[in-house]
Amino acid sequence: MKDLLKLRDLKKHEIIELLNIADQYKYSRKMFGVKRTDDLKGMTLGMIFEKASTRTRVSFEVGMYELGGQALFLSSKDLQIGRGEPIEDTARVLSRYLDGIMIRTFSQEMVEKLAEHASIPIINGLTDYAHPCQVLADLMTIREYKGKLEGLKFAYIGDGNNMANSLIVGCTKVGMKVSIACPKDYYPDADIVKWAEKKGNFTITQNPEEAAKDADVLYTDVWASMGQEGEAEKRKMAFKGYQINKKLMGFAKADAIVLHCLPAHREEEITGEVFEEHADQIFEQAENRLHAQKAVLKVCLGSSPKDDHGYPYEVDEELEEFDLLNGETEEIKDF
Ligand code: CP
Ligand code: NVA
Repeated sequence: MKDLLKLRDLKKHEIIELLNIADQYKYSRKMFGVKRTDDLKGMTLGMIFEKASTRTRVSFEVGMYELGGQALFLSSKDLQIGRGEPIEDTARVLSRYLDGIMIRTFSQEMVEKLAEHASIPIINGLTDYAHPCQVLADLMTIREYKGKLEGLKFAYIGDGNNMANSLIVGCTKVGMKVSIACPKDYYPDADIVKWAEKKGNFTITQNPEEAAKDADVLYTDVWASMGQEGEAEKRKMAFKGYQINKKLMGFAKADAIVLHCLPAHREEEITGEVFEEHADQIFEQAENRLHAQKAVLKVCLGSSPKDDHGYPYEVDEELEEFDLLNGETEEIKDF
C-alpha cells in the first residue's frame, strides 16, 4: 500500500517507474487494443471531490474500470464531510469499504490527515498546494516528445500555484533545469522555492523572456485557480505580460513544445494562436492523464495484499482456524 500525496515524497526512480508503467499501458492500449486488465480486479476507488474536474475525474474513473475495478464519485456536497463530519472519522469509515481514495480538495493538510487516519492508499487529485498526478502525465508527455528528461530546460510562466509547485519538484527530481517567471506577489510556496534552490538547477525571475530563453518546454496555467474566482479581475492586472504568445516563443528553442494542464483561458495565460499551434501536444498531455493515472492506481492500490483469487484481502491464517459462524473451518476456506 502506498500513498501519493505530493511529489516531494517520491524518489527519482519511483517517478521514472511510474512513467514506465504509464508508457506500457499506453502502448498496449494503442497497439493491441488492450482496454481491460485484471490488475485491480475486485477493487473500488472512492473519488472525493470538493472542486470541479473533467480530466481528473474521468481519467481516474475510466482508469479504474480499465484495470478491472470500479470507481465511486463522491461529491463532498453529498458526503457528511460537507456537514462537518471529521476527516479522521471519514478516513476510518471509508477504509472499511474501499481499496483506495483519490481526493481533490483545498488544503494539503486535509489530504495528509486523511492519509494518516486511513488504512488504504490516498491519492492527491489536486490541492491548493500540489497536483502530483497532473505532473506525472506532464513528464510522460515531455519524455514522449523529447525522448529524454535529463538536461532539458523547463520554463513555467504565470501563477506560482499548485501546478508551479508540483512542476518545480517533478522536473527538478528527474534532472531538468527549471526556470519560473511569476509576478513578485505570486511566487510558488516558499518551502518549494527553498527546496529547489538547494538543488541548484533552478531559477526564479519576474521576467518571462529570461525564463523562456532556450527552453525546451514552455508551460503555463490559469491566472485564477479554483477557489480564487473572486480575485480574477485583480489577477488579470497582476499577470499582464505573463502570457505564452508568439513573441515569447521566439526566446525558446525552435523545437520547444508547449504544455498546459487545462482548462485554458485563451488570450489570458496563452494566446489562442500558440494554443492551437501546439494543440497536438496539449491534448496528448491530456490523454496521458489516463495512462499516468492507471500507473498511479496500479502502484498505489496494486501493492495491497491479495489472495490466490486476486481479491484485495488476505485470508488471515488464524482466522482460517477459527469457527466464525459455528460453521466448519472447511466452509470458511471455501468462502
Ligand atoms: N488538469 C486537470 O486536473 O483538469 P481537471 O480540473 O479537469 O481535472
Ligand atoms: N491551478 C489550477 C489547476 C487546474 C487543473 C487550479 O487549481 O484550478
